[in-house]
Amino acid sequence: MSVILGIETSCDETAAALVTEEGEIRSSVVSSQAELHARYGGVVPEVASRRHLELVTPVIREALAEADAGLEDVDRIAVTRGPGLIGALLVGLAAAKAIAWSRRLPLVPVDHLDGHIASLYLQPAPLEPPFLCLLASGGHTMLLDVRSHTERELLGSTLDDAAGEAFDKGARLLGLGYPGGREIDRLAREGDPSAYDFPVARVPGLDFSFSGLKTALLYAVRELGEDELEARRSDLAASYQHAIVRALVERVREAAEQTGRQQVAIVGGVAANSALRAALPDAAAAPLALCTDNAAMIASAARWTEAVEYPRYLALDAYASR
Ligand code: KG4
Ligand code: ZN
Repeated sequence: MSVILGIETSCDETAAALVTEEGEIRSSVVSSQAELHARYGGVVPEVASRRHLELVTPVIREALAEADAGLEDVDRIAVTRGPGLIGALLVGLAAAKAIAWSRRLPLVPVDHLDGHIASLYLQPAPLEPPFLCLLASGGHTMLLDVRSHTERELLGSTLDDAAGEAFDKGARLLGLGYPGGREIDRLAREGDPSAYDFPVARVPGLDFSFSGLKTALLYAVRELGEDELEARRSDLAASYQHAIVRALVERVREAAEQTGRQQVAIVGGVAANSALRAALPDAAAAPLALCTDNAAMIASAARWTEAVEYPRYLALDAYASR
């Protein structure tokens, strides 16, 4: 067996995976810290770093065990180098360096966003570039023209909040806890998406803006009493989600028109949203577990990223933003 060991610790998921050169997932383990951070209403960076430190070795061990493999089967180590929480990233990077060094293996530093795109290149139904890609996560919202496995052009991005951040902040206003995207998705199924008319800012070009939407929700919530809010919560969730999805879909359509790309794909945590998936039925999307942060996508991206040989990678640093 010859596999890539992927490690991902950029935010609040500690993840490890074994992926073959052909993009077959041999194992993928994701340990979420969401519960740990829930009581703070968001990810606390220092808490995340410490938890990664506790989890990274057992999660890697589990990924190896699940694939019935040992480190002798691994031919390179792929690790997220950024963007993300710097302390969290450093835990994964240090673990990757240590394992690579101990076995004199090459190390592949992977950009987290390349990882999200590469979630589409995994078996059993890998997507072939070119395609237009909407990357929507907790930290980023971008439209990309993906020309090949290694070339892409940024067509637009958010001027303020990311789409996932809008979901999370909205969920907080609705008292749904953290992380909020999945909760809004669930609650919205019982609500009326046209109950409230939430505005989505129109910004020039192919950029996005979500900060005004959050303020609109805040005002709508303030106008309701405690009991009323309880009764209207699912309508608010459905209408709020509808506004985010509409903004994303409109931009995707405009970008498809401008670039002439026939194939559209959605990646990142927000690509797990059922309303977004339903609104773009022809768009390629990875299975839900590969939309949110995982290490299989990091190992997948390593297939098109240059490896760094021993001992040069020992000097690699993580980066918080691009
Ligand atoms: O890609 P991801 O796991 O981490 C980052 O790189 O940020 O994305 C996490 C984001 C969070 O904001 C979360 O609320 C959102 O993805 N998310 C969802 C859903 N599942 C996760 N948003 C809407 N609907 C979902 N079903
Ligand atoms: Zn991510």
